[in-house]
Amino acid sequence: MPIINWSEELELGIEVIDSQHKKLVEIINELHDAMRAGRSGEKMDEIISRLLDYAVYHFNAEEKFMQETAYSFYDQHKNEHENFKKTFQQKLEDIKSGKLVFSVEIMTYLKNWLAYHITKTDRNYAPHFKKHNIN
Ligand code: FEO
Repeated sequence: MPIINWSEELELGIEVIDSQHKKLVEIINELHDAMRAGRSGEKMDEIISRLLDYAVYHFNAEEKFMQETAYSFYDQHKNEHENFKKTFQQKLEDIKSGKLVFSVEIMTYLKNWLAYHITKTDRNYAPHFKKHNIN
């Protein structure tokens, strides 16, 4: 059962961005399924690493568009990305070293962070990107 359902609320109407957001949702749902199925630590680490790598790829793509179009809220937006990367990277290291066990709380953190970030922070740049023919 997915923990996040793709919906119009998450859609920004910018194909290149929506497809990357869908991929993030897909990996979070894969992680949720693996957790519920009691998959091995190794499998969980693999999915979490893949999620982090894809999130970094996506953030870099968004930030490049922001820089190319002189988006006014670039610094604040990048800051949100950096905070997420730092927090999530730390959790991944703690899980790998055995200090932290992957849990429903981490799953909920991921789901809430992504949903909030897309619907609030990302949504703000949509008109600006569209004006600059990013679609
Ligand atoms: Fe879609 Fe700002 O991450």
